[in-house]
Amino acid sequence: MSDPLFEVDETGEDLTRADEAASSAELSPAEKAATREGHVGLAEGALMRADELVAGYLPGVNILRGCDFYLQDGELVGIIGPNGAGKSTLLKALFGLIPVRSGTVTLRGENITSAPAHRLVSLGVGYVPQNNNVFPSLTIEENMQMGVYLRPKTFENRFDYVVDLFPLLGERRKGKAGSLSGGERQMVAMGRALMMDPSVLLLDEPSAGLSPAYQDEVFIRCRRINATGVSIIMVEQNARRCLQICDRGYVLDQGRNAYTDTGESLMHDPKVIELYLGTLAKAQ
Ligand SMILES: Nc1ncnc2c1ncn2[C@@H]1O[C@H](COP(=O)(O)OP(=O)(O)OP(=O)(O)O)[C@@H](O)[C@H]1O
Ligand SMILES: [Mg+2]
Repeated sequence: MSDPLFEVDETGEDLTRADEAASSAELSPAEKAATREGHVGLAEGALMRADELVAGYLPGVNILRGCDFYLQDGELVGIIGPNGAGKSTLLKALFGLIPVRSGTVTLRGENITSAPAHRLVSLGVGYVPQNNNVFPSLTIEENMQMGVYLRPKTFENRFDYVVDLFPLLGERRKGKAGSLSGGERQMVAMGRALMMDPSVLLLDEPSAGLSPAYQDEVFIRCRRINATGVSIIMVEQNARRCLQICDRGYVLDQGRNAYTDTGESLMHDPKVIELYLGTLAKAQ
């Protein structure tokens, strides 16, 4: 197979962009922070972290190839990068949905590597996948009940919290989720994950496929959710918007960290602009 993503890395000799830069020129601050050495000290005391994660779908094919990540309590962290970089795979690995071949995932210092999703939910981790994230034949209210199946008594309380964030879900509670627009469904999916009162929310492309107005709405809601005390990991294809609202960001490339810094710094980093944000960003 010629696609470099499908090469089996048994030697560990393939290079990240940062490694390449290290061998040829000086690293920018965002590249340095993305190296393991630069990253490890900053990850101290993190709410959730991943260390040297290697994971994939097919035997012998690694998609994540030594990925490091951390989320401090209260942070909103964005993950951007090209299609196929492994962003969704990273979230799946954090949430125990794919086998982790090596490396660790920890939550509040506890090793949760490959823990089943239901255990992670009870530990306070919520996950909203990229696709198929609502039950279309169920009503909005029933979708919310599915979200809280582990603690049914908390339904009313949590539903009030969710409706406060997304009033539409209260107004339409008896309507079928399948009759909603893409943006409204996204709210149902986020609402359902919030029903369990998570301390960490993993969001995979919450703005994908939405009109610009709805995209803005989703980003604003994410900030509001974050302001209520929920730490958020957000994967986004709308890279500029994501970097604008996140506290810190990672650029993932070929299953590894290429750059990491505050969202603000990444947004203005000439290399990140050139390689990942495109000509639109350059013009602004
Ligand atoms: N279920 C699967 N089985 C086999 N390979 C998969 C599977 N899901 C994803 N992959 C492969 O893993 C690689 C990374 O995919 P992933 O979905 O993590 O990328 P991504 O960064 O989220 O991309 P996008 O921006 O397109 O969502 C891709 O090469 C993809 O083809
Ligand atoms: Mg994806």
